[in-house]
Amino acid sequence: MAMKKAKILIRKGKKQYFEDLDRDVTIVKEKQFYIDDLSRDFSTSYGFISKADLKRAGTVKSSQDKDFRIFDASFIDNYKRIRRMPQIIPLKDIGYIIAKTGVGPGSVVVEGGTGSGALAIFLARYCGKVYSYEIENEHQAIAAENIAALGLKNIVLKGNDICRKIDEKDVDLVCLDLPSPWDAISPASVALRQGGFIISYSPTIIQTADFVNALLARDDFVHLKTVEVIEREWEVDGRKVRPKSKTTMHSGFITLGRKI
Ligand SMILES: C[S@@+](CC[C@H](N)C(=O)[O-])C[C@H]1O[C@@H](n2cnc3c(N)ncnc32)[C@H](O)[C@@H]1O
Repeated sequence: MAMKKAKILIRKGKKQYFEDLDRDVTIVKEKQFYIDDLSRDFSTSYGFISKADLKRAGTVKSSQDKDFRIFDASFIDNYKRIRRMPQIIPLKDIGYIIAKTGVGPGSVVVEGGTGSGALAIFLARYCGKVYSYEIENEHQAIAAENIAALGLKNIVLKGNDICRKIDEKDVDLVCLDLPSPWDAISPASVALRQGGFIISYSPTIIQTADFVNALLARDDFVHLKTVEVIEREWEVDGRKVRPKSKTTMHSGFITLGRKI
């Protein structure tokens, strides 16, 4: 199945300087829409965009003669629409995992648990093959729906407990996002090639410490490091530049180990 065809429609925001007030005033509020039903007119508070115009790219006008920009939704636009369960792994952490392990088109990755498939989807976008383990049928069904919407064909969903056994061998990366990742270290050791990476992603430092201590107690892994990736968004409005007041500071701790 190919990636879902959808469109992004944007009404660009505008500010105007008002001399009496001696400041810029927002006269058009920026708006962005994701349109996945291209078979009928799309309604906005600035008038509707006809279904014929939804098929175009560039600039289109609404029934109220307002300008909009329209273009095809990309991978990331579709990704943002996936069905999420609580505790989805955020993009900043996904980026770190992919960059630090250097996985690429030839890599074989094992992941558990699948959850809503957020990490699996990104791993599959960059790697050759992803085997993702999940014990809850309901979660697996949501992940399957999300994976199909993104049109990815290189993910194998497995309804097995990753702490019992990993079937794959010569794996480049085993990525764990589970309540008890230490229970998956032995199966990961059997599955990983020498030099392959093990990653554990945990929201609490207690889980992280238990995982690292379990890794340190063995002679088949080295602990490379444990990090927390902090993303801080800034607001830029003319020369008023400051950190956004609402920023998610903590998501999880990432531990990297290597099979030796
Ligand atoms: C926090 S979620 C994973 C979220 C996922 N990384 C994502 O980005 O969408 C943890 C998942 O692990 C599953 N799980 C827990 N223990 C497991 C096990 N032993 N084997 C496989 N899956 C397991 C849970 O059912 C849950 O769906």
